[in-house]
Amino acid sequence: MILPTKVFAMPTHPFTIVISGKGGTGKTTISSLLTRSFIDIKEKPVLAVDADPNANLHEALGVKVSETLGSMREEAFTRKIPPGMNRHDYVRFRFRQALVEAEGFDLVAMGRPEGSGCYCFANDLLSECMKELEREYRFIVIDTEAGMEHISRGTIGKPDMLLIVSDPGARGLRTLSRIREIATQLGLEPAKIHIVFNKYKTGTAPVDIGNETPIAIIPDDPKVEAADLAATPVSQIPAGSPARIAVRELAEKISSFAKEQISA
Ligand SMILES: Nc1ncnc2c1ncn2[C@@H]1O[C@H](COP(=O)(O)OP(=O)(O)OP(=O)(O)O)[C@@H](O)[C@H]1O
Ligand SMILES: [Mg+2]
Repeated sequence: MILPTKVFAMPTHPFTIVISGKGGTGKTTISSLLTRSFIDIKEKPVLAVDADPNANLHEALGVKVSETLGSMREEAFTRKIPPGMNRHDYVRFRFRQALVEAEGFDLVAMGRPEGSGCYCFANDLLSECMKELEREYRFIVIDTEAGMEHISRGTIGKPDMLLIVSDPGARGLRTLSRIREIATQLGLEPAKIHIVFNKYKTGTAPVDIGNETPIAIIPDDPKVEAADLAATPVSQIPAGSPARIAVRELAEKISSFAKEQISA
């Protein structure tokens, strides 16, 4: 899978955050709460990118996705293009259809890659169309699939920040060390890699987290669980719920980082 690295290099480029981590650690939950929090602190518009083939970020954000970029490839080349449109126009037209516009954010789902497991087409399409979007995003939040494959294939590009979500247990810690190692080997500056501990249960014995200094510790929150059980958008849990407060603080930290980077 290849993520939209080219958009990272736009002149007035938005601050791009990739959310990575082991399966089920809370990547999608945090991606959606982070998107929500940026809007709450007026750092908008946000582009939320669902780069997990098993797309579910839209549900967490409470919007519907009818098209993915991955599903467009075949059509863009083979289907009869409507009269009066060239392929380029058609692709842009379809991209507009894939882009879900909502209050304060847009969402695009990459979908499944074509046979070879390559997202090149969808990625080029996204980069090409992004340049033409009138909206200037403040932040791009990219939710990825579980594991390390997208990292080890060198496909996360060079985001401004890589957040590795982990539970504060020994296995989680091992996975996050491996993700960090690979990302660093691939040229991402260590200063851009941060750890988020999620589902932290108060009262539990402090885990030995070695030298790790997490950028955020998100508590285990019954409201998140309740949203999951009721299949309601997790990004809409009450503003006073612990996970939402913690992610808002994270958004504020990231916003300061982004401002420092611009003024540097
Ligand atoms: N802070 C939290 N408190 C309570 N439950 C949580 C919290 N964060 C996530 N969860 C729950 O953990 C489960 C996994 O969360 P989520 O789907 O966000 O993880 P993921 O890393 O995106 O998973 P996948 O690897 O399958 O994409 C969900 O049931 C979710 O409700
Ligand atoms: Mg997920």
